[in-house]
Amino acid sequence: MPKNALRQYLELLKNSGIKELYRAESNKLNILTKLHDKYAICTKCPLHVGRIRFVYGEGNADATAMLIGEAPGEQENISGRPFVGAAGQLLDKMLIAINLQRSDVYITNIVKCRPPGNRNPEANERLACIPYLVEQIQIIQPKILLILGLVAAQTLFDNTNTLQWHRDKVHEFMGIPAYVTYHPAALLRNSNWKPPAWQDLQVFQKEYEKLR
Ligand code: URA
Ligand code: SF4
Repeated sequence: MPKNALRQYLELLKNSGIKELYRAESNKLNILTKLHDKYAICTKCPLHVGRIRFVYGEGNADATAMLIGEAPGEQENISGRPFVGAAGQLLDKMLIAINLQRSDVYITNIVKCRPPGNRNPEANERLACIPYLVEQIQIIQPKILLILGLVAAQTLFDNTNTLQWHRDKVHEFMGIPAYVTYHPAALLRNSNWKPPAWQDLQVFQKEYEKLR
């Protein structure tokens, strides 16, 4: 990603009064449904080539919390829904452990189409797709973000720091407090990370419950 490209884009948005666009339509779910249909044929980056289904995101359009993962995997590409494969099943359990249902939150990813063989999405792909996420945040206006994994964290906070660095502090994205934890797929690969992930979730839960 060109240095600071994301930051520059966000500055531009701040000054462009883009929120006006959503004034006419008061129902957030309707807006998201229309935008889903509009973007589902996107060809802005090479990931469209492997797309079976565009995975925009799903959940409560009025959610207090938005969860942001990395990219759709195989099952997501087939179903058009985020986090429905093995990692998604673990995510559901993680949510239940902090007293949340999937339907309470909104879940999406940095990129909306599956990278071939589940490789990490590249910088140009992330930059091409990020406006969709920014727009989802503008519509839903969550009060807290949970960022799942290093790729999503490095993208949103525009750095190359470690997961540990990201987990150690509270961040902000578009003015919204953002907490970083392990990606559930990483927890499936290495269960030693489950205890520290549980700590992250408890911190997140405490903040979330203050906001409701
Ligand atoms: N991993 C992700 O980051 N997102 C999904 O939607 C599924 C798996
Ligand atoms: Fe478009 Fe995003 Fe899919 Fe790339 S990943 S084709 S930018 S929707």
